[in-house]
Amino acid sequence: MKILAIDTSCDETSASVVIGRRVLSHVEYSQVLMYKDWGGVVPSIAKRAHQERIDWVIERALKISKVGKLESIDAVAVTYGPGLAIALEVGILKAQEIAKKYKIPLIAVNHMEGHLYSPFVQNSKGNPKRDFSFPYIGLLVSGGHTEMVLFSDILHYEIIGETLDDAAGEALDKAARILGFGYPGGPIIERLSKEVNNEDAYQFPRPMRSSKIFDFSFSGLKTALLYKVKSLSEKEKNSQINFLASSFQEAVFDSLVNKTKFAMRKWEIKNILLGGGVAVNQRLRIKLKKMVNLEGGSVKFPTYKYLNFDNAAMIGYVGYIRAKRKIFVKNISKLERIPRLSLLQSTLK
Ligand code: KG4
Ligand code: ZN
Repeated sequence: MKILAIDTSCDETSASVVIGRRVLSHVEYSQVLMYKDWGGVVPSIAKRAHQERIDWVIERALKISKVGKLESIDAVAVTYGPGLAIALEVGILKAQEIAKKYKIPLIAVNHMEGHLYSPFVQNSKGNPKRDFSFPYIGLLVSGGHTEMVLFSDILHYEIIGETLDDAAGEALDKAARILGFGYPGGPIIERLSKEVNNEDAYQFPRPMRSSKIFDFSFSGLKTALLYKVKSLSEKEKNSQINFLASSFQEAVFDSLVNKTKFAMRKWEIKNILLGGGVAVNQRLRIKLKKMVNLEGGSVKFPTYKYLNFDNAAMIGYVGYIRAKRKIFVKNISKLERIPRLSLLQSTLK
């Protein structure tokens, strides 16, 4: 079954053709440079950009996959939430149009499900060859979400922890801004930190330290950074920038890693999955892997770089999982975006 997948949930216009877990093509048109000076995505700009680019990314994805034409596609999968309402709408409208015109089933996919399964998405040759070994704790860390998911089986999810304020990626984006850098902040903070070997010079507070709480909170940490920066002269700040970035990053990642450790112990789960834009961060990967190994478990990351970020390939794979169970949209015209869609709404009852 060849599936065309579309994701327009945030600032990437993305299309992909997949067969099961194998990605035949993946095309994205990023808007990220457009927001460099805005500090984040601007919804009205995003909508226009998606509308202008969606046909092109679909055409390219079909061409690269060698499937060529929409007539040869068996089903279309689309992200219907969570995300920016007016951005999601562009992808949904296009998927509805294709499903109706070519009389193929439409599959509605939760964007966070995509991130959760992303470590299992394969290239066109079928690599990596890994199989599921349930149960997992999935740690999903992106610009919009920070969630710990009890992933007990295919399509069975329970949220065991989430952020009470900023998402991990959002916290890094805001920290970069406080330090005088543009969006997205995650890669900048990672680079600055690496330059000083990730030294934790300032030892900012680790929020929600208790082992009984599985939720995250990063806004207090952001305030701590802000006050520290305000207490420094411009010259001092500039000389300390690497250490401020690095200490902030360590605090965010310690919080993610410690909560995961407590959850592993409480639920007696050894297998961890990491997904979302922040998952690309090498420092986070190393810290998480070290902890998980000490606990006697194993951790899986998305294998290819693009799979960490928003992409339609992971949506295609979830689309396939749903299609195999014949979970299609019943009334194509009635599929609506759900900007605050939760993973719980996508769990099999
Ligand atoms: O998953 P994603 O592409 O989009 C959302 O669904 O949010 O994640 C984007 C987030 C941004 O907050 C960005 O700063 C962060 O991922 N990010 C990183 C890195 N690259 C991107 N965070 C830490 N280290 C990175 N290298
Ligand atoms: Zn995402």
